Amino acid sequence: MDKIIIEGGKPLKGEVSISGSKNATLPILAATLLTDETCILRNVPKLLDTHTMIKLLKSLGKDIEWDKDKLIIMSAGKPNPVADYKLVSTMRGSICVLGPLLTKLGEARVSLPGGCVIGVRPVDLHIKGVEALGAKVDIEAGYIIARTKRLKGTRVYLGGASGPSVLGTANIMMAATLAEGETVIECAACEPEVEDLANFLNEMGARIKGQGSPRIIIQGVRKLHGADYKISPDRIEAGTFVLLAAMARSHFVIRDIDYHQLMALEDVLSKVGVHVEADKNMVRVKPAKVIKPVSITTYPFPGFPTDLQAQYMALMTLADGVSVIRDTVFPDRFMHIAELNRMGARIRREGGSAIIEGGHELCGAPVIASDLRASAALVMAGLVARGKTEIRRVYHLDRGYENIDKKLMALGASIKREKE
Ligand code: EPZ
Repeated sequence: MDKIIIEGGKPLKGEVSISGSKNATLPILAATLLTDETCILRNVPKLLDTHTMIKLLKSLGKDIEWDKDKLIIMSAGKPNPVADYKLVSTMRGSICVLGPLLTKLGEARVSLPGGCVIGVRPVDLHIKGVEALGAKVDIEAGYIIARTKRLKGTRVYLGGASGPSVLGTANIMMAATLAEGETVIECAACEPEVEDLANFLNEMGARIKGQGSPRIIIQGVRKLHGADYKISPDRIEAGTFVLLAAMARSHFVIRDIDYHQLMALEDVLSKVGVHVEADKNMVRVKPAKVIKPVSITTYPFPGFPTDLQAQYMALMTLADGVSVIRDTVFPDRFMHIAELNRMGARIRREGGSAIIEGGHELCGAPVIASDLRASAALVMAGLVARGKTEIRRVYHLDRGYENIDKKLMALGASIKREKE
């Protein structure tokens, strides 16, 4: 296991390029199960989660190789409908092979993914969706076992207590591409990653409309063919670097970013006193003289993203006053509070809210990463803290941020990786 050591307080400048989106890559990789033809994916981020999904697809009958920066996915003979617990339990995103396996092979045996530190992570909406499409579903020994002759298009409402489900929408959209007739998904997730997936599926010959809106309509087809597709930039990595620039009061440039996907962040930052100059596919952050405390609540897209909540909390530890953060998507996603407090922040939980008393200097300390975005928040805090911060279990970081230590070093940060 690696650890990262940061000497805080170094000025950051220059420019950083954003990698391809992790949360678009995972369902798009799963979608290659819908065809026996070759698919080529570009701008795929080289992350732990990408490697895990590649391993899973190979176990399901795919042959996959890197050709410089292109990922080539081919069929390697008899497909296998069983997504094994060992692989699925290491990455929840693996649940999105359920829809493709079921609709392509008529059968899917996918291990229940289990929870993680940010919440229980149920899959009831995924199961509701495939049952609505006519699949017979049993749960046996920790596996979802789904079977069908051929799925039948239907109208299905996919909203849960916390709103739409991103991967639930992805699974049902993929399953519907080869179903008989029309499927309408009501209360679909509107995230840009769902749009990216739909655009890839349409490149494969699917007939999908309404992606990015709460109503997605899919006309089933008999067969899908291979496609050559470029993954969009990662809006959460981009938002992380925008928040870092605000926190470090740095003027660096962030390239390969579709800023329209971060309007909720820009809206909040304008109230904080941070201005963002967006220009085509790059942004320049103009830090605030005084970081004003602004309370937020996270919501499904286009609301403030839960995946930027921890990083925003790190910024609010420097604010000139008290702010409150509520996460309606993952109400328990507050593992980063204890670690930020070890660095001198003053944050307390009250029910589903975090109360941040800003204005206290952050001091370097040994801390432990707990989940992907919490570890990003700890890196941000370490970069502005006085003294040395040592972050252990950085594999959490490597799951979702490609070469983040190299990118930060190039901006002037004093950061190095060591074997733990
Ligand atoms: C995706 O997870 C992302 N992961 C998450 O990013 C992200 O935080 C989340 O969407 C919300 O935006 C990937 O895309 C790989 P959900 P997903 O189903 O699809 C409840 C990161 O840091 N729910 O949209 O699993 C659920 O409990 C990761 O990159 C049900 O009730 O999340 C939650 O409260 C973390 N029943 C809410 O819906 C279900 O069947 C949203 O979850 C499914 C979900």
